[in-house]
Amino acid sequence: MARLLELTLNGRARVDAVADNRLLLDYLRETAGLTGTKTGCDGGECGACTVLVDDTPTLSCLTLAATVAGKRVDTVEALGQGGALSAVQRGFHEKLGSQCGYCTPGFVMACVGLLRHNPHPAEAEIRAALGSNICRCTGYVKIIEAVQHACWLLASGEATRP
Ligand code: FES
Ligand code: FES
Repeated sequence: MARLLELTLNGRARVDAVADNRLLLDYLRETAGLTGTKTGCDGGECGACTVLVDDTPTLSCLTLAATVAGKRVDTVEALGQGGALSAVQRGFHEKLGSQCGYCTPGFVMACVGLLRHNPHPAEAEIRAALGSNICRCTGYVKIIEAVQHACWLLASGEATRP
């Protein structure tokens, strides 16, 4: 069966017909054309598909699109505004937090979810928030530095949004 899905996607109201068994990941990439959200393991293990649902990091490969009806969904495409990177995007860029970049949208959205709730996380809180995300390139040190840099950008007023 199909149903009408109404949601707020990257700040804009949207309505689409979706099958009951349509995954949020496939809806985002194939229906909405938002290919920044990546398909990795397709089984809840890698975090590459992480998006925010009402500001909570969510694995879109394990989420049915129909379950986000009436909710706010943010993907990595929502972050840059007017050509300016957000704090977390700048953190990854300026501290070399990505190499091949495939995992990066998932890490970035997990970090944005953390900083929207807690703009001053301790390193242990950062590591806990990223515990569901896997990177095969960076060794994670640069990723932690990227998030800490994003926190500094926000605290110093160099950036205004995670
Ligand atoms: S693609 Fe969703 S957790 Fe790996
Ligand atoms: S930068 Fe390549 S998998 Fe993370």
